[in-house]
Amino acid sequence: MPEPSLKPLFPRAEIEKHVQRLAAEISRDYVGRELLVVGVLKGSFLFFADLVRAIATPVVIDFVRLASYGSDTRSSGIVEMRLDLELPLQGRDVLIVEDIIDSGYTLENLYHRLQLRQPRSLRICTLIDKRGERQVDVQADYVGLTMDEGFIVGYGLDYDERYRNLPDIYLLENV
Ligand code: IMP
Ligand code: MG
Repeated sequence: MPEPSLKPLFPRAEIEKHVQRLAAEISRDYVGRELLVVGVLKGSFLFFADLVRAIATPVVIDFVRLASYGSDTRSSGIVEMRLDLELPLQGRDVLIVEDIIDSGYTLENLYHRLQLRQPRSLRICTLIDKRGERQVDVQADYVGLTMDEGFIVGYGLDYDERYRNLPDIYLLENV
């Protein structure tokens, strides 16, 4: 089997530009309110860190860890919560921060779980929207970058836990 190869897709400067744009939109929409920002581990960790630093409104942060069974590059639709939030959501303005929406199973599942906890509002921010792969109808309120198909790594995103530390985003080929 050939070695996987990395083809540059989104350079760090472009990522940074969209992170700043998203933070400006979020800051404007939640002005005068305190936002509870929920990071979905592990993939969103760098995006999350850059985004919250650029949001002007007061924030508190928390994390969830989700895992969906399946092959390395395809979701099965069965989503397990491996780590739950510490903070209660009731009556709060909550923003879910995800690295990428692919089939949509992960976010659909998380959105409904968190909605049951009666937040005042619940929205979704994703760095990347992989539009061509959607299996269920879930839409992000804030979208950084879009792509149609292919598997990407870097800036938090992994293949078999590798490449998360790369500052740019690459298309992974030959896997
Ligand atoms: P979904 O449930 O199919 O929408 O998948 C969402 C999760 O699968 C994301 O949170 C990622 O962890 C992972 N994922 C989906 N597409 C990619 C990709 O292209 N690269 C790395 N991880 C991905
Ligand atoms: Mg993920």
